[in-house]
Amino acid sequence: MAKAATQFACTDCGYSAGRWFGKCPSCGEFGTLVEEATGQAKSATAAKPTLRLIDVKAEEAERIPTGISELDRVLGGGLVPASLVLVGGEPGVGKSTLLLSALAAMSTSRRALLVTGEESVAQVKLRAARLGGAEQVEILAETELETVCATLEQERPAVCVIDSVQTLYSSELGSAPGSVGQVREAAARLLRVAKEAGVATILVGHVTKDGAVAGPRVLEHLVDCVLQFEGDRYHEHRVLRASKNRFGSTNELAVFEMTGTGLVGVPEPSELFGRTVEGEIGAAVACALEGSRPLLLEIQALVAPTDLAMPRRVGTGVDPKRLAMIVAVLSRHAGVALGQADVFVNVAGGVRIDEPGADLAIGLAIVSAAKGAPVKPRIAAFGEIGLTGRLRPATQAERRLEECAKLGLEAAVAPAGTTGRGKLRILEAETFREAAKAGIDATRAEGG
Ligand SMILES: Nc1ncnc2c1ncn2[C@@H]1O[C@H](COP(=O)(O)OP(=O)(O)OP(=O)(O)O)[C@@H](O)[C@H]1O
Ligand SMILES: [Mg+2]
Repeated sequence: MAKAATQFACTDCGYSAGRWFGKCPSCGEFGTLVEEATGQAKSATAAKPTLRLIDVKAEEAERIPTGISELDRVLGGGLVPASLVLVGGEPGVGKSTLLLSALAAMSTSRRALLVTGEESVAQVKLRAARLGGAEQVEILAETELETVCATLEQERPAVCVIDSVQTLYSSELGSAPGSVGQVREAAARLLRVAKEAGVATILVGHVTKDGAVAGPRVLEHLVDCVLQFEGDRYHEHRVLRASKNRFGSTNELAVFEMTGTGLVGVPEPSELFGRTVEGEIGAAVACALEGSRPLLLEIQALVAPTDLAMPRRVGTGVDPKRLAMIVAVLSRHAGVALGQADVFVNVAGGVRIDEPGADLAIGLAIVSAAKGAPVKPRIAAFGEIGLTGRLRPATQAERRLEECAKLGLEAAVAPAGTTGRGKLRILEAETFREAAKAGIDATRAEGG
């Protein structure tokens, strides 16, 4: 009998060959060739009739509440039946914990299955005992893809968690579990099973050093929803956000606190992250927007003299390019000389901000640290800093102002033209220089 032919295909250009190459001979990319299973070609393929959308009967499937309201929010209102969700996160961030809690809550009203490839049944039992309420969760310790798919087709649970997709392997492919080809094959097959057997499937995925889900990019295209679980292992706060969602808004955000009995949702994260100590130098409150959710975040800055030829600009939770730009604008347009100083910026609670609306607060924190004068008490700031030093309006100003008012702040420094209803005072500024004048309490400068 002839050995089943193995094909290697380039994930970038689609070139395929009978052997593996480190560099794709067609497009020249490195490391893009992956192994593919080759099936026997069907002899005759019959055409299928097409449908018009008007004839398609579709009822909005009722979502499955996960029992964790913060997780539901990120999913866009619960788990969609027969969908495929990918949850990525660093080792130890709490992926297994979160999903076991969700399974436990869902198992009270429907069948919930955990496929564990990473931990033994006994290990899961220990975690379940710690979390409580998971007695009805069904469990399968299996790493062979074919067995997992067959079990899902036969048992048809309403929800299934695969922990993790990198441990699954198909014996039809020769490569090792976790390799690009295996992960891609596993996701593609699970997608088919999820749709056909109506199983809402959640895949746990590992992430690479720079935070992307390990394995092929194609994994993120395949699934309906990609959730990123972030946070520092040494802090108890974790942030869950959607980076792709076919059934809801992306960039929704949920905050959890890791406790001895599992992850607990934090419904008012602004309370937690937006509090500053009055009169503290180098601290400012940003009102950043995460998806549709405004969030108050404390930004801290330290400006320290240095002898380094290239002073350091280090940001935790902020984009380094953005930080470098803000520092440059401050030097050039606001008269804050930072050429002989290291600048460190930190966002409270291990939260990461990608939104330009937080620029102004970052700038104010740095100016406060550089001048040794605190930001005025009970104010927040938002707005994008342009390269000319002019402030650009931030999106959804109204919602940000509402959040500031809700937390009992008195005023907000914002770009000129920002209007709001409430009783919050708006300190409008055309340029960053004006914003700094409005926001920094110069009368309380150190030694002055
Ligand atoms: N007894 C405990 N009390 C409090 N927290 C605990 C306890 N045991 C574990 N944890 C927390 O749970 C975290 C591990 O969670 P979990 O196993 O869900 O992570 P994970 O993301 O699934 O990791 P991996 O990628 O290794 O599977 C630990 O980092 C720790 O913070
Ligand atoms: Mg785990």
